[in-house]
Amino acid sequence: MSEQFRYKDSRGVSRLMSDHIDPHRILAEEIGPAYEDYRRRWEAARTFQEQPAFPIHVDYEMMFRCNLSCPMCLMSLPPERRRVYGSAAEALSPEKVRELIDEGARNGQCAMGFGGLWEPLLSPAIPDLVAYGRSKGLVDALFNTNGFFLTEDTGRALIDSGLTKLMISLDAASEEVYAQMRVGSDFNTVASNIEKFMNLRARMNSRLPLVRLSFCRTALNEHELEPFLERWHGLVDFFSIQAYGRYESADPPGFPADWLAPPPAGRCAQPHKRLLIRHNGDIMPCCDASGTQLVMGNVHKDSLFEIWNGPKLAELRQRLGAGDLKGLAASCQACQDKFETA
Ligand SMILES: C[S@@+](CC[C@H](N)C(=O)[O-])C[C@H]1O[C@@H](n2cnc3c(N)ncnc32)[C@H](O)[C@@H]1O
Ligand code: SF4
Repeated sequence: MSEQFRYKDSRGVSRLMSDHIDPHRILAEEIGPAYEDYRRRWEAARTFQEQPAFPIHVDYEMMFRCNLSCPMCLMSLPPERRRVYGSAAEALSPEKVRELIDEGARNGQCAMGFGGLWEPLLSPAIPDLVAYGRSKGLVDALFNTNGFFLTEDTGRALIDSGLTKLMISLDAASEEVYAQMRVGSDFNTVASNIEKFMNLRARMNSRLPLVRLSFCRTALNEHELEPFLERWHGLVDFFSIQAYGRYESADPPGFPADWLAPPPAGRCAQPHKRLLIRHNGDIMPCCDASGTQLVMGNVHKDSLFEIWNGPKLAELRQRLGAGDLKGLAASCQACQDKFETA
């Protein structure tokens, strides 16, 4: 299959592809000049040409919960090791997310997401929050999901909300491999949810959200990448092929080191363009799980503006810019190591 739209992130970790659409062109057509301005600002921040006065994109991890236990994900760790990364007892309320959207909208934030370690469709508030963010002028609203709870009603609410991108993680072409990769889910339910959602979007005469299917490439599923692309090619808008990154020193069986993502190709730009707000309110400078220990502040006592322009983030940016990995915070070191080939 030919690839009209290709994109590699700065570390060469994720590849987006479609042979029939350019997602950015469609979004520019649907949303207009504000989308193009946002992408220009994102690119300028990503390449260190401009330092925005407020994060361009903010992710809200509203809970630390998931209905699945995928072997590559920190969610599958035994409870005592998972506890290091968060607590199921704490949550970011929809009201708090609205307040954070208000602060972003006043300060030029362009995009919102529901990134982090959780399953966003566990929260019934997602469509309302997306609609709220879009009504306040945010031009991009997106999230990853395992697709299990993508019912027709939820699908309709998401299409009505103004969501721009829905990214569904599938990771397999067959029921057998899916069961190994997406433990606790059901292949036929999720495949049918995706097909129904695409039909619904067509019936509702909407081009958005663009739908991306993701494939996290590991030794368990690598042989199904081509059949996966063949199966869904032309049915969804685009694909993301992600390399597996090691989060803890002990890898689960089936993930030999030579399947890890390639080493980082450049300086990390995450703290120049985005923030992640975790379920307990902690403010993180990046969306990588390794960064969950890099706490810059907490939304229950600090404003995002103060933290974005404060000394902790300034120091992190300065250290990352200097490129001295030994001098970096332990979390950044872990992130770099995660993508190092053995
Ligand atoms: C952490 S999940 C959260 C959203 C949602 N629950 C889902 O599965 O899409 C976001 C993405 O991270 C990917 N992911 C999880 N563990 C990973 C790892 N060790 N390396 C690379 N990607 C990983 C998942 O496949 C998914 O596409
Ligand atoms: S569905 Fe997503 S968050 Fe849940 S275990 Fe799988 S990758 Fe992790």
